[in-house]
Parts: sequence; C-alpha cells; structure tokens
Amino acid sequence: MSHDRSAGSVPRPPALVTGAGRGLGAAIALALAADGHAVAVNDLPDSPGAAGVVDAVRAAGGSAVLAPGDVTTPDGVRAVVSAAEDGLGSVGVLVPCATGPQPEVPVDRMTWDDLLLPLRFFTLSPLLLVQAVLPGMREASGGRVVMVGSDLAQRTDVGWSAYSGAKAAQLALVRTWARELAPDGVTVNAVAPGWIPVERHAGTPPELLEAYTARVPLGRMGTPADVAAAVVWLASAGASFVTGEQVTVNGGHGLT
Ligand SMILES: NC(=O)c1ccc[n+]([C@@H]2O[C@H](COP(=O)([O-])OP(=O)(O)OC[C@H]3O[C@@H](n4cnc5c(N)ncnc54)[C@H](O)[C@@H]3O)[C@@H](O)[C@H]2O)c1
Repeated sequence: MSHDRSAGSVPRPPALVTGAGRGLGAAIALALAADGHAVAVNDLPDSPGAAGVVDAVRAAGGSAVLAPGDVTTPDGVRAVVSAAEDGLGSVGVLVPCATGPQPEVPVDRMTWDDLLLPLRFFTLSPLLLVQAVLPGMREASGGRVVMVGSDLAQRTDVGWSAYSGAKAAQLALVRTWARELAPDGVTVNAVAPGWIPVERHAGTPPELLEAYTARVPLGRMGTPADVAAAVVWLASAGASFVTGEQVTVNGGHGLT
C-alpha cells in the first residue's frame, strides 16, 4: 500500500495568484511563497502594490515574478499566463482572486450590467485562466485550482444579490469542473471567506465591525492570514484527495 506521508518534502509547483497586489490576493501570494511555491503575482498593470509583493517574497528568500494584466479579457489572461510561465514554468496552482468594484444594488434598481460585472470576475475570468493553464497542468499530470469565493454564495445580504449570484455561479463551476478535470489529476476547490477587512475597508465605522463580530460564533473578525492558510492547505499534498469542495472561512457566521 502506498500512502503519501511526506507532504512536507514534496516540491511545490509554481502558483499564479490574480489580484495579488493587495488584499486577500497579496496575503495568499505571500503565504504560498512561505510554503515554498514560486509565485506569479498578478494585478492590473497600474497596481501600486504588486511589485511590493514580489519584493517581499524575494526578501523572504522566495521566488516571485510580476504577471501584470487584466484577467477578465482573453488578451490579458494570455499575457498574464505567459509572464508566469516564462518566469517560473508551468502554473501548477491557480488562485483566481481578483475582484473589481462590488456595488450594492437592490433589485428594483438593478441593471443587466450590474449583474454582469461580478460575473466577469467570478466566472469569465476563472474560465479564461483555467483554459490557459490547463495544457501545462495536463502535461504535469495534475494541478490545483483554488478559487476565492465567498460565504455569500450561500448566505444572503440585502443589496448584494448580484455579488451573491456570481459567487453561487462560481461555486457551481468549481463543483462541475472538479468532475471534468479529475481524470487529469486537477483538483478544483474554493475558499469562501466571510467579511475579512482589507485595505479597502479602512475607515469602516467600528460599530459596524462590532455588530458583525457579535454574529460570529468564534467572536472575532477573520484575517487575510486565515483565508491564505486554507488556500495553502488546498494547494498542498495533504489535500490531494479533496475536490469540488468549498472551505468556508468565516468563524461560523451564519451557522444555524
Ligand atoms: N475581503 C473580503 O471581505 C472578502 C470576503 C469574501 C470574499 N472575498 C473575495 O476575495 C477576493 C479578493 O477580495 P479582496 O477583498 O482582497 O479585494 P481587493 O479589492 O482588496 O483586491 C482585489 C485586487 O484585484 C485587482 N484587480 C481588479 N481588477 C482586476 C483585473 N481586471 N485584473 C487583475 N486584477 C484586478 C485590484 O487591483 C486589487 O488589487 C474576491 O474574489 C472577493 O470577492 C473577499
């Protein structure tokens, strides 16, 4: 019988993290690098933070390249994946994490464009990215796709139906692609954070944070490191028999 008990000694494949110039993507890129993955750091070309994430990985002794580009367009994704693969070799771990603005729009004012915006980030972009990295994963006889979803795929929040709907669609893609890509040795999973304060939440009134925390059974706000740890695990050898799953990282918020 052969069981892999040596996850710690397995070489880590290169990882591509989108939207990694700040927020959760930056934390995920840094955590994957700390776990031994070479990391391609994607963000928009004018991102003020992406180069700093590359520098931080290198300063810590890791390996990283910048892979700038818009991950919601075919040309952008081609450029991003080329930069990653030219710099590091085939992408073995793909983490679609980029997001655009997330407008709060109630149903009576919603337009088709409001519905499409989050779908571009959470379904179109992962589709383009998976298609671009799949040949390399197939050649390597395996790979990992870890999408950053949201607990709002299953919870609800008034005004957030466009976002929730796109995250629910993303989860459906995860589950179906997991079956379609299993014969290639590619696992497809999602990490679903609750509200995790990042740079863009600076200035949130403390009473809002307190009200949210009061509804979290574990009694605190989540951190980017909490989310990154789940991504690192799903990318690791220890998770090789896990596919089509969503790991919710929200301290139990919404459990009934
Ligand atoms: N922070 C939270 O509370 C939270 C909760 C649940 C889920 N999420 C999910 O986590 C992911 C990251 O969220 P975040 O809070 O870190 O957001 P963020 O706004 O801090 O970071 C998103 C990054 O994506 C980049 N980006 C925007 N458009 C891009 C494009 N077209 N191509 C490449 N990069 C682009 C931005 O420049 C930015 O650096 C998203 O999928 C979001 O839905 C976040």
